[in-house]
Amino acid sequence: MGMRKIWSKELILIVLISIIASMLGGCDRAQEQQKEAAPTPTVMLEEATRVPTQVPEAIEEKPVYPMQLGTVEIHQELVYSEDFENSQTDVLGRGAAKVILQSNQFYEGTSSLIVTGRTAIWNGATIDLTKTLVVGESYQVEAYVMYENGPDTIQFDCKVEKNSSEYLNFASNIAKLGEWTLLTGSIIIPEGTTSASVYFETTIGGNGIDFIDFYVDEIKITKEDVTASRGELPSLKRVYEDRYSIGVAATVNEITEPRKQLISEQFNSLTPGNELKPDSLLDYAACTSDAKFNDNPQVNFSRVDPLFQFCKENQIAMRGHVLVWHSQTPRWFFAEGYSMEAQAPLVSKDLMQKRLENYIKNVLEYTQNNYPGMIYAWDVVNEAINPSDGEEGGYRSKDSLWYQVMGPEFVEKAFEYARKYAAPEIKLFYNDYNTEDSARMLAICDLVEGLKAKGLIDGIGLQTHISSDHPSLIDIESSMREYGEFGLEIQITELDMGMVDNTEEAYMHQATRYKRLFTLFKHLDDTGAANITNITFWGLSDDISWLSKPGVPSYPLLFDQYLIQKPAFWAVILSEDIPLY
Ligand code: GLA
Repeated sequence: MGMRKIWSKELILIVLISIIASMLGGCDRAQEQQKEAAPTPTVMLEEATRVPTQVPEAIEEKPVYPMQLGTVEIHQELVYSEDFENSQTDVLGRGAAKVILQSNQFYEGTSSLIVTGRTAIWNGATIDLTKTLVVGESYQVEAYVMYENGPDTIQFDCKVEKNSSEYLNFASNIAKLGEWTLLTGSIIIPEGTTSASVYFETTIGGNGIDFIDFYVDEIKITKEDVTASRGELPSLKRVYEDRYSIGVAATVNEITEPRKQLISEQFNSLTPGNELKPDSLLDYAACTSDAKFNDNPQVNFSRVDPLFQFCKENQIAMRGHVLVWHSQTPRWFFAEGYSMEAQAPLVSKDLMQKRLENYIKNVLEYTQNNYPGMIYAWDVVNEAINPSDGEEGGYRSKDSLWYQVMGPEFVEKAFEYARKYAAPEIKLFYNDYNTEDSARMLAICDLVEGLKAKGLIDGIGLQTHISSDHPSLIDIESSMREYGEFGLEIQITELDMGMVDNTEEAYMHQATRYKRLFTLFKHLDDTGAANITNITFWGLSDDISWLSKPGVPSYPLLFDQYLIQKPAFWAVILSEDIPLY
């Protein structure tokens, strides 16, 4: 590739005009137009300096669909409550923990429950609610926790133990020493739940500090019957069917009604959120069952099979994510004898290369034999670049056991094996985040250039986890033009737009940015600057987004917690009701 043009002439001109206009306060006509169209003038001015080249064309877009907002009616029914004011409770100690009703501390009334004698972080207080919690129903929990001795802050989690084998988040929050703290959150009980306990514990921190005694008080679990109506929605997959497939990431636990219905109406591609990652597929018991598997890692697909079934029933294609990644891959995979010891020596480069080949072979053979034609693309390698680690070529080294054991060659080897074992129609991708950052972009381009020269790569995956005001569309555009120059497929693989504000103004600001982004994608695709073939959202609705942190929800996606379309949905289909300046 030649010298990389970051700024085109037109782009500079438009930005200069915007900056001058905003410095001068804009001409009267411009101000009038802004008044008419914009409910949020501050947002608009701030964004005006970031208008990418294609916007004048986008303003002439024909109206597509009028924006409709859905309706939500919520009926709440208290299904369980415990204030610890009576002499008996059905809340029990979990593991070694003991629970005692006492009156030294309480949030309300005159008593609460103390959890004591913990010897592991999962020890806590638990209630068997198998008879109360119903599959497919939505529940909200509220409970207060407090601790008197230990670190300044500690994270408390309330979880649902499903079938004594899975641990699902219900609510989390960070508590301060000596202060009663509210845990609140909600959950839909997943299909296949045959027993369910709700329990409280502290999160992993090490050094035994998590084994602190703590108090619990005022537990309330409410069933929420929600009648939500989206009205008639256009389908994203239909709107874009001549252009690119539209995908969503989902985990098995998110495949419940009414999510299933919305996914099948709107999307024609699905990326398993976790279930095709190495830590989900690698089968420790099978790997260590016989020395002959030392170079041949064994895999188990039981977690991902329900997603394949769902996709098959609904004619949804699947993006395979991910064969090789430094994260969500257990250390024992790299260790001699698959040892789980924290300090176990790592294997030689040669042995790791064999494990890599066999892992890829086993994963591809299983999926191709059992679900032929369903996976259309694989992220072969994810996030191998991290220029701040200071390695030549910009490789991620500090937290990558792949790099530490095999050096930079692991990337090319992974693609070589993927090419060798993948069915010919499956497209092989390199996937990464912050792809508009110039240092990362240059390193990715170098890596892709080498792979392309050897015919090993078909596409570049741009994760596109962005926020409501960063990075600029100009940076996104110029980087996509760079990646587009390879002539490979471009997929937006993990799109979301983090935002902690859920006011109407914030929703409109987000929608405007989503509309610009999709206008940009369309423009780049139409003009041949980037051959975009798929756009995938990293999650269906805000409530299950990975961006929501304990006590700090985020609102990055197109649907809210009731699966009702946000303005962002209308933005993505370029509705004229979403202002675009
Ligand atoms: C990265 C990974 C994804 C997912 C997201 C956050 O982008 O590629 O698999 O883990 O982080 O959830």
